[in-house]
Amino acid sequence: MAEYLQEVSRTFNEFLFLPNLTKKDCILSNVNMKTPLVKFRKGESSAIELNTPFVSSIMQSVSNDTLAIALAKMGGVSFIFGSQPIENQVEMVKAVKGFKAGFVESGSNLSVNDTLKDVLAKKREFGFSTMGVTEDGTSTGKLLGIVTGRDYRVDYDASTKKVEDFMVPFAKLITATIGISLREANDIIWENKLNCLPVIDKNQNLQYLVFRKDYDGHKENPFAALDSDKRLIVGGGINTRDYKERVPALLDAGVDVLCVDSSDGHSEWQKETIEYVKQQFGEKVFVGGGNIVDKEGFAYMVSAGADFVKVGVGGGSICITREQKGIGRGQASSLIEVAKARDEHYEKTGVYIPLCSDGGITRDYQMALALAMGADFLMMGRYFARFDESPTEKLMFEGSYVKEYWGEGSNRARNWERYDMGDEEQGLKFEEGVDSFVPYAGKLKDNLEVTIAKIKSTMCSCGSLSLSELRSKARLVLLSSASIVEGGAHDVAVKKVGS
Ligand code: IMP
Repeated sequence: MAEYLQEVSRTFNEFLFLPNLTKKDCILSNVNMKTPLVKFRKGESSAIELNTPFVSSIMQSVSNDTLAIALAKMGGVSFIFGSQPIENQVEMVKAVKGFKAGFVESGSNLSVNDTLKDVLAKKREFGFSTMGVTEDGTSTGKLLGIVTGRDYRVDYDASTKKVEDFMVPFAKLITATIGISLREANDIIWENKLNCLPVIDKNQNLQYLVFRKDYDGHKENPFAALDSDKRLIVGGGINTRDYKERVPALLDAGVDVLCVDSSDGHSEWQKETIEYVKQQFGEKVFVGGGNIVDKEGFAYMVSAGADFVKVGVGGGSICITREQKGIGRGQASSLIEVAKARDEHYEKTGVYIPLCSDGGITRDYQMALALAMGADFLMMGRYFARFDESPTEKLMFEGSYVKEYWGEGSNRARNWERYDMGDEEQGLKFEEGVDSFVPYAGKLKDNLEVTIAKIKSTMCSCGSLSLSELRSKARLVLLSSASIVEGGAHDVAVKKVGS
């Protein structure tokens, strides 16, 4: 006979915090959200710690290099999607690891034979007015000059005028050589009243541009997720099919942490994959496993050697797994049970396995709930898909800007490896995800700052200055449907913006 659990499957939406005493030192600037990413022993600390407890989903429509850079600057980590050829994923990882605050790869470039018309076209296309002029017109070709908006007059100069005739030629440029620090580069910029300093290698090939306006860039990101060489931290998604080729390639590219991407992690294929990574590359290579929803799944991931465990099946905003297969569990119930198992495991063995709550967050306060229920960090797709830095198109839809967001199990992504059941016949047999739009929300940094302020406020109301304090002090209550109505604006006519 089938086993029936007594407990109802619950979601974040059904819970609320009760406020605790807020002491005078409980202010936003005193709250620390530092959190471990990978397992560690009692008395030690995690080899990777995040200042912001967020990671972005292993999805085509979410985690590319651009989003990874923006998120790592803010203290979180992206897991670059694995449902792409290995060499493309490797390029994205390299782009994040190669990113140097303030050192910008020249986004649009010219060759000497281009004309003013080409300059104006590139300016329109890329939005930059400073362009490198290189021998082959690429961003790393031999530097021959620079064109800025001050080198031509649109109404006066002929559109056929050659770049060669109005660029600032190399002989007149002040340049720096690769290896220079941002501080040194800025000293040169200030001493010479420059707007832009080209950085070249020993063969005069263009490497970066440093702009005056980026001077404060590194100070703006005091919480950035950095490795021991001060490079941004980045993760990579892997699957249970091509890991023997993908993992070494990602490690060569400098990836900091891996995660097996699977809709159902409680499987022998997943165990084999994690064990392979650990046996082949040792304990210093970190790999997370999942997704699971109960203590049995957690124990299985731990026995495989997972460095963190991802919790959640069927709760993602684009997910239709529960409708298609009838498999899953409310995200709150999953997290509460798995967190208990994690704490018992820690008690028994002295090894702490961080938990990642994956999917289903629709409001900022639910992030605080997930953290209070035992998640060490949160994986989100919809949240990040809305920002400028996500890889998808920004479109106008029914009068508002939106961005595209599609599930890995949709026909659009066709990431069959994520839903692999080990069959010889490969491919997606039916969809487990949808293709959708999400409201466009602007820059990641602007949004994250507000979200972080909200979570810190919740923590202060709960009298907590750290995530571990939140976990131990939080008092949570289940909501009736009537109290959910009471929680929103009610019995008033809400004014629309602009009215
Ligand atoms: P969201 O933050 O609620 O949008 O959920 C994102 C999470 O949904 C991801 O991190 C994945 O775990 C999961 N996911 C991604 N694509 C699919 C899909 O096509 N079907 C089901 N779940 C998905």
